[in-house]
Parts: sequence; structure tokens; C-alpha cells
Amino acid sequence: MSEFEFGNPEIIEEEVDILIIGGGMAACGAAYEIGPWIKAAESSLGRELKVKLVDKAALPRSGAVAQGLSAINTYLGENDPADYARMVSNDLMGITRDDLVYDLGRHVDDSVHHFEDWGLPIWKQPGDEGKKLVEGGKPVRSGKWQIMINGESYKWIVAEAAQKALGTDNIQERVFIVKLVNDKNDPNRVAGAVGFSVREHKIYVYKFKACLLVAGGCVNIFRPRSVGEGTGRAWYPVWNAGSTYAMAAEAGAELTMMENRFVPARFKDGYGPVGAWFLLFKSKAINAYGEEYLSKEGAQKLLEPYHPYNKAYVTPTCLRNHVMMDEMINGRGPIYMDTVTALAKLAETMTPKEIKHLEAEAWEDFLDMCIGQAGVWAGENIEPEKKNSELMPTEPYLLGSHSGCCGIWVSGPEDLGAPTEETHPEKDKIPSHLPSGWHWGYRSMTTVKGLFTAGDGVGASGHKFSSGSHAEGRIAAKAMVKFAIDNKDWTPELDTPVEELVEEIYKPVRNFIEHKDYTTAIDINPHYITPKMLQFRLQKIMDEYVAGVATWYRTNAKMMEVAEAKLEMLKEDAEKMRAKDLHELLRAWENYHRILAAEAHMKHIQFREESRYPGFYYRMDFNFIDDENWKCFVNSVYDKKTKTWTVFKRAHVDLVDKTQSYNN
Ligand code: ADX
Repeated sequence: MSEFEFGNPEIIEEEVDILIIGGGMAACGAAYEIGPWIKAAESSLGRELKVKLVDKAALPRSGAVAQGLSAINTYLGENDPADYARMVSNDLMGITRDDLVYDLGRHVDDSVHHFEDWGLPIWKQPGDEGKKLVEGGKPVRSGKWQIMINGESYKWIVAEAAQKALGTDNIQERVFIVKLVNDKNDPNRVAGAVGFSVREHKIYVYKFKACLLVAGGCVNIFRPRSVGEGTGRAWYPVWNAGSTYAMAAEAGAELTMMENRFVPARFKDGYGPVGAWFLLFKSKAINAYGEEYLSKEGAQKLLEPYHPYNKAYVTPTCLRNHVMMDEMINGRGPIYMDTVTALAKLAETMTPKEIKHLEAEAWEDFLDMCIGQAGVWAGENIEPEKKNSELMPTEPYLLGSHSGCCGIWVSGPEDLGAPTEETHPEKDKIPSHLPSGWHWGYRSMTTVKGLFTAGDGVGASGHKFSSGSHAEGRIAAKAMVKFAIDNKDWTPELDTPVEELVEEIYKPVRNFIEHKDYTTAIDINPHYITPKMLQFRLQKIMDEYVAGVATWYRTNAKMMEVAEAKLEMLKEDAEKMRAKDLHELLRAWENYHRILAAEAHMKHIQFREESRYPGFYYRMDFNFIDDENWKCFVNSVYDKKTKTWTVFKRAHVDLVDKTQSYNN
């Protein structure tokens, strides 16, 4: 088939019980947990459970862990899940869902134990080598919550277990899901999803009873620091296009904390990880004059307006950024990771062989998870024991699994914080799932029936990282199996005819075919815009008006008014995106998802009239934390018919006592 014949794709329709959209850690966790149910469900269904996993890439190297990792950042071990909930709440400035975080904390270790069983090498303390965690082997902890691994092939290992559990016949790779389809008879329910192959001229239409939407967070809505020859580098994986948030929003699911973002301070240009340096090697960040700015007296003063969070345990990530940025803005940059001092200090008590090993570990930290940074070191003649490396705050990312907490509002565990007659005598007057404990249905189900999520998809509960996302996928999987069995007699019906869906998906192709002969230069045409150019436009708007790096993460109501108007025009022009091939069709649809995710982010920042996350972003017109009015969740619902957002507050409650201190 020639490139221009692809306007008429083959249409493949399939009905399953459960569809998993995505192939990252959460999806692999779900696949692993569901696998045994394919047969086991026979006793209740009278037939096998039909499950399909669709991934736009290839399972062994997809998702945020694709490149590998050098640490597992959530392993509780001897720690108390309540302390974990305290740490997460503290780092995310007090507004998290304790029910979700606690639940994750008490389950996550089991996933890590499985990883080790499947072959992932986990570092052990001297003397415990060869002893598994479950056998009492003591891990090498880089921090209270993190353990070190040899993890270049982490995702391969986890994916293999998922493939084995689900069966490769039930895994469809290279299919990009474009949208969820609501049920014909119940608009608040999902009945299907549609997408296209990025390799063949085929469109896939799935119908299902339940769906796990786990397509990661969102990168590249802000102009990245890496431009020109650096284009394509980002800290979070560039293929995370906000599909989770956009598709959930379009299906009517309530989003939460979409104003939250993550701006990691990372090794400059390569976006290399800092965790091992700060926590394992005990390295310090210094300014251009060699001062440890975080422990300077002035730093405490800087944090005072953001009381009480500066008094808590470890300074939250955003506030550490805040102090760093103050140094940079006021001319005391560049900021360096003082690798020289850290390694020299560690070497004081070491033999030359041990020192060589330590240096190898420093390189491996990058080689395991961020080869690009090792490339920067090699290219710039940086030997970490001799030369310090620059640190830089990156462009903002939207995510719910790392040190951020935007995402979808989901039903929590039954046994944590659910309102009882005793604690809430007026329980009946409280809207079903509010305000104390948020269990209103199947665990991990969104406010849309049949739609579940995990990992980056779940809002208000950050710091899950790779292991937590896997565990959360497993938790959701169990609930979905139950849902599918409970709804065994229900038949999904799509609210939109298949032909209409196909036309919508292939619109960028039609735009191209119709107008391509108008000009002789394929990229220059008054009738269409290339996905690449459209993405640049989105990034420029977000960067300059919605607190990107251009303004040192600052914005105000007036700037967002401009952003809003420009986004409206962008959306108009987006209708004219072209796709000259399947790759561009993928890029076009990623852009549609990014635009919606970006819009949600902007609307939430607009709504929250305070600066909850200084160092991540500032509302300069409300440059303070206002607990009285804003210690609450900000949630939103998108109406796909009117294309409008409704943003509102939901009460926040601490289910774990936060006044109790713990070591960190
Ligand atoms: S990664 O995602 O790019 O790999 P990284 O390796 O830096 O992240 O590690 C992040 C982990 O280290 C998180 O658990 C984070 O909370 C923790 N961390 C990083 N820096 C610090 C710090 N200065 N103090 C406390 N915890 C930190």
C-alpha cells in the first residue's frame, strides 16, 4: 500500500472483558495479577476471562522505566506505611489522599519481592549477598524509602513476567489508543476504546466491560530546556503524551490536583538522576561560590512565607527548588552537585580498589537509567571525582507517580477512612464519597463506571515510583476482575457509530490528502499545520504564560487569560493538523492529548488562588500558601460536548495523624 492510500484503513473490532491501555509498570502489574484469572474466572463466567493489553510501543521497553533504573524509590521494608503517608503528604505540601498512599505503602513490597524473584539484582549489604529480601537479605538503602538495584533491564524483567501471565496473544503492541467511547445507554460509563496501529493501516475498535487506563503522565507540553541539537531529551519519557489525563477527561472522569506539576532539579542537559548522589553518596548542592545554599541562614528565611511546611521533617522537593532558584535568579549560579567533595569524603576510609568500585557505581547510576548523562560526562570530559557537574531545574512535567500528584480521582480502599456512623453521624448528608475517606465503589475506579486507573493516572498520591505503580496496577486489576464478573450479563454498546470514530481518527490524514498538492513544499501549506509545528506552538504558550522556564515558573491571572485565548486559537488550528504518514498520525493524536492535559493544568492553576508549590510554580498574584482557603483538593470535570471545564474544591482530610513525627 502506498503512503497515500492509507486513507482507508482496515477496521478490526474486538470485544473483551478487560482492556489494559498502556504497557508501563502499572500495566505490567495489572497483567501479572489478572493472568491467573483468565482461567480462574471460568467458575463464575462459564468461560475464560477475555483480557487484552494494548501498548503504543513494545512492552519490554515502554513506559517511564523503559531505559532502566538504578534504584527502586519505594520499598518500605521495616518502615511503617503510616510514616510513608506522612512523608508523601509532607513532600506534596499537605494535600494527598492518605487512604491511597497508605494502601500502596502496605502492598508495594510484595511487588519488589516479585521483581527479585524474576531476576532483578537488588544490592545487598556486605554479608547478605545472595540472600533475597524475603529471606531477610538487607538491601543497600540510598534513603529511608529507596533501595539500590542493577536495573538497566528492570523493565525487560517486569514485562517478561507480565507477558507470561497474560500470554503474548493477549498483548497488542504498536497500537495507539485515541479515545475512550462512552456507553450508549449510560453516558457515565465506558464501553469501548478506539485506536490505530502505528505500523499498519489498521484501526482497532475495542468493546469491554472494564478498562485500565495507564498510559503514563505528560511531557513536552512546556518548551523543554533541550532545544536544537538537544531536542528529544527530557527527564520524563518524551512518549508520555498526557493520554491518560486527556482520555479520562473526555470520558467524563473527575480529575484531581491537575495544578500540581513536577520540576525536578537534575544534572544539566542530560537530565541525569540526583537521588543516588544526594542520598547514597551524601553529596551536597553548592552555588558558584561553594556555599551549601540549602543550609545557609538565608534559606530558612526564604522558606518562612511557606510555613508550616518548612518546619517538617525533610524540606519538600518544591521548596528545595525554591531555594536553588533564588540562588540562580540572584546571580549566584551556576549550581553544582559537589561530586568532588562527596567522593573524596567517601574515599577517606576506602582502599584504592573500593574507590574504583565507588567511581564505577557513580557511572553505573547514569548508565542504568540515563545513558544520555553518561554521554554528557564523556563529551565534556567530566570525571566526577575531579570536576563538579551543574544542576538545573527542568521544564515542568505532569505526573502522579514520581514527586508529583496530578491525576484522576479514584475510589480508595474499603477499610481506610470510610465514614462510619460513629465518626460521621450525618453520613447520609455527605455526598457519597466525601469528605472523610473516599471509598465509593470498586477500588481504583474513577468517577466513570468501568474506567480504572493506576500509576501516573491516580491523582493526589505521589511517590509511588516504579514499584508503587506496579503494585497499584495489581490492586486495580483485582478490582477490575471483580467488576467484570459482577457485570457479566452486561453488554457494552458504543455511543458513537464506528464509521464516525474512524473518520475522526483519520481526520489529519484527510487534511493531508485533500490539500497536499496545493504546494510543492510538503511542509508548507496554508491548509494544514504539521504536528511538529503545532507542538512548538503549544510549548511556547505554556512556557511563556503558564509558568514555564521562560518566566522562572511564574504566572498570574492576567497571563493565564492570554494563555487561555491562545489555547483556544491553538485548538482551532489543531483541527487542521496533517498526517502524511502513520508516524505523523501518532504525533497528531499525541498533540490532541497534550493540549487537553495542558488545558487542565492551566485551568487548575487559574482556580487555585495561592502558590501551593513554590519552586514548582508561583502565582505571583497570590504568592503565599493559604491553608485556610486552599488546603483542599482542586478537582475538575470536562464536558466533551460543550468542551468546557468545571473546576471545584473537594474537602481534604488527614486520615493519618500528621503531627506525629518520624525519622526520615
Ligand atoms: S529519578 O527519578 O530521576 O531517578 P532520583 O534518582 O533523582 O530520581 O531519585 C529520586 C529519589 O530521591 C526520590 O525518592 C526523592 O524523593 C529522593 N531525593 C532526591 N533528592 C533528595 C534530597 N535532597 N533529599 C531527600 N530526598 C531526595
